[in-house]
Amino acid sequence: MKVTVVGAGAVGATCADNIARKELASELVLLDIKEGVAEGKAIDMMQTAALLGFDTKIKGVTNDYAATEHSDVVVVTSGLPRKPGMTREELIGVNAGIVKSVTENILKHSPDTIIIVVSNPMDTMNYLTLQTSGLPKNRVLGMGGALDSARFRYYLSQELGCSPADLNAVVIGGHGDTTMIPLIKHATWNSTPVTNFLSQEQQDKIVAATMVGGATLTKLIGTSAWYAPGAGTAAMVESILRDEKKLISCGVALDGEYGQSDISLVVPVIIGRNGWERILDFKLSEAEQAAFNKSADAVRNMNDVLKTL
Ligand code: 2OP
Repeated sequence: MKVTVVGAGAVGATCADNIARKELASELVLLDIKEGVAEGKAIDMMQTAALLGFDTKIKGVTNDYAATEHSDVVVVTSGLPRKPGMTREELIGVNAGIVKSVTENILKHSPDTIIIVVSNPMDTMNYLTLQTSGLPKNRVLGMGGALDSARFRYYLSQELGCSPADLNAVVIGGHGDTTMIPLIKHATWNSTPVTNFLSQEQQDKIVAATMVGGATLTKLIGTSAWYAPGAGTAAMVESILRDEKKLISCGVALDGEYGQSDISLVVPVIIGRNGWERILDFKLSEAEQAAFNKSADAVRNMNDVLKTL
């Protein structure tokens, strides 16, 4: 199996590190536009192989897309990250051009690949990739929901005093501070609704913290987070390459599901060797569906900006 990670910044490099440690692929290419960065990080990671005991061969390249040929999965992390106080949406002008050109270059060498989009604003960048690539919709996935759901489980575990691994909880909607919808009424702690153990005030606090999870870290660190984004992406790569059929919240093209079409939004999907294989209908309440529609309107407005660039 071969995976390419485009963008050797913190998120791309962390994702590559996770993929190598788990030996998800025999070959891993890390590509960046900055001379030497991908090469250096690839060698640094390869020097952990003796210590960690993995056999994945990592190769770093500067803009050499020929090296990415025949990739089974390509992760796109390229583009600018957020600075403190910035929304993900403010990145659209710069990142749209980058993501479009990366997609075109990737497809020249791996026309049948599966693309995972991490670049922000994720919902619009995923929509752009769907349009630019012409790939079947199941082969294009946006990462944001995997990350936001992991953050949701973290905040729930803090309040419940339990292991995040014992929690099932998903975020749907958009990967934006105001567009994501942590589905707290559907969240369970080993099959019991978490709402049985949390006051309304605690629930509101968890939902609010999840929604600004990325912004909170950007404020603390001075740039966008990378450990959870890298791990979230690697979990998706794992479910694809090992055909795990994991249920992960991802950005996918909707065609009537959840009442929306001609848009990429985050919904719960099953991920296997063919990309996302089916969308699960969580039977939203009226209030949840209204929130989802509101997120769709906001994401659609952002998608319209693409026409002006
Ligand atoms: C975040 O929320 C990178 O958008 C990503 O941290």
